[in-house]
Amino acid sequence: MAASRRLKLRPALVRGPEVTIQLEGAPLRAHEGETVAAALMAAGHGVTRRTVGGAPRGVYCGMGVCFECLVVVDGIPNTRACMTWVREGMEVARQDGLRATDDALGGA
Ligand code: FES
Repeated sequence: MAASRRLKLRPALVRGPEVTIQLEGAPLRAHEGETVAAALMAAGHGVTRRTVGGAPRGVYCGMGVCFECLVVVDGIPNTRACMTWVREGMEVARQDGLRATDDALGGA
């Protein structure tokens, strides 16, 4: 596992309890209170999705506006990594190309 890129905290600050999420089947340590985007970046994963043409995309605005950070969370596509809190056992996958929002409902 790569070294964490998290900032060193000042003594008065603490991170939330550690949780483990799955990134495409591989365990990834995160902390409650972090977004999926923060957890991925802290582990050195800058790419969250690929466009239809295969171009890599990642966190851009970090505040839910640009939709560049889309991932699949627990089978639900088009989830903004920067707006989604991590939780124990969450399954995250990078998103490839376009995904209909009804994919999670079995497609239509
Ligand atoms: S980085 Fe812009 S919506 Fe997530």
